[in-house]
Amino acid sequence: MSRNVSEKAETPRRVLVGVSAGIAAYKTPELVRRLRERGCEVRVAMTRGAKEFITPLTLQAVSGHRVHETLLDVEAEAGMGHIELARWADDIVVAPATADLLARLAAGMADDLLTTAVLASRARLWLAPAMNHVMWDHPAVRQNIATLEQRGARTLGPGSGSQACGEEGYGRMLAPGEIADAVTAGSEALAGKRFVVTAGPTYEALDPVRFIGNRSSGRMGFAVAEALAEAGAEVTLIAGPVHLSARGGIERIDVRTAAEMRDAVMAQLPADAFVSVAAVADYRPASRSDEKIKRSGESMQLELVPNPDILREVAGLSPRPFVVGFAAETSDVGENARAKLEAKSLDLIAANRVGDDCGFDAGENALVVYSSDREWDLGSASKTALAEKLVSVIAEQMENA
Ligand SMILES: Cc1cc2nc3c(=O)[nH]c(=O)nc-3n(C[C@H](O)[C@H](O)[C@H](O)COP(=O)(O)O)c2cc1C
Repeated sequence: MSRNVSEKAETPRRVLVGVSAGIAAYKTPELVRRLRERGCEVRVAMTRGAKEFITPLTLQAVSGHRVHETLLDVEAEAGMGHIELARWADDIVVAPATADLLARLAAGMADDLLTTAVLASRARLWLAPAMNHVMWDHPAVRQNIATLEQRGARTLGPGSGSQACGEEGYGRMLAPGEIADAVTAGSEALAGKRFVVTAGPTYEALDPVRFIGNRSSGRMGFAVAEALAEAGAEVTLIAGPVHLSARGGIERIDVRTAAEMRDAVMAQLPADAFVSVAAVADYRPASRSDEKIKRSGESMQLELVPNPDILREVAGLSPRPFVVGFAAETSDVGENARAKLEAKSLDLIAANRVGDDCGFDAGENALVVYSSDREWDLGSASKTALAEKLVSVIAEQMENA
């Protein structure tokens, strides 16, 4: 078992401001200043066209850093390259976001430094569209925005009023102060609450090289932990074997087996709430061979014994935390989830259908949340977006509990 608190806890919020080629780019230097006033460290990436509207020199002066302009630049890559920049950012704020840039982002293109950084980043993505109101109303733009929002991007504005083209309507970029406020707001809905979250699969060893595992990637659990932290909660994330890193301020404990996960959870209690997102193996091999099991040509029987039921055990404690379970089902999702909610005396259960093409090891998911007397259909979206919605439901229900 290993533990660490991610390094970013003490660092200021790191914001990459992306600038595309819209007339509203003249407001971006002020946005950089407003973000810095609010304690953010800011770097700027521009599209080629954006440089026709505002100079890199201005943005360098207000951000205090060299502006990132070109992808295929040996010198720039030797400094803070595009991947490093993508990893560095907690938030990426594209202001202004042109119709063209929205289309390129929605299509998943990586044809310049800004779009490549967005694709290579797990940062929150904020979009401040700015364009002529007829462009903003165009179905292509609307569809691109909807696609990006479904993947977890947050749209800020646009506002309405008189436009640079002399017309009136929706399409004005929000004021820099409004954008900076939205980006740095952070909800305090769960401030002072301590959460224990589990994520990922467990691996149950058969011999030194083989195990029984499952296809959980841990992404949903990590997204929930991050959304809770963003809502002000103190979060301990107990993760099975995954290839993920958690964002700022989350205490992380790595485990491998269900038994280790159970012990790590119990050691973290009492807590205000327990959210069990991990796909914990229900069974483990009755015995583990010390040597690698050799091929014999005979058929082989594998005896499995039940693993501890962590969710049931935590929900059975007295006093007990607020308990949220996850149900991954391949059929009759709602019915099975409700049955699990009742059988294990959970406060909430988030149900998703898993199969070959959805749920496990995928970026998107679809969740329905049940309590004993209510249900919330969170729809189908990125795991990040769903985690935020789930956290709102948890915060509301804990408030009423
Ligand atoms: C004077 C002028 C102003 C423009 N203003 C906008 C704008 O506000 N919003 C927009 O979406 N496109 C605007 N455009 C069009 C974009 O500059 C064009 O689509 C460009 O390809 C966008 O490049 P980028 O998204 O890579 O930065 C404007 C073009 C010109 C010539």
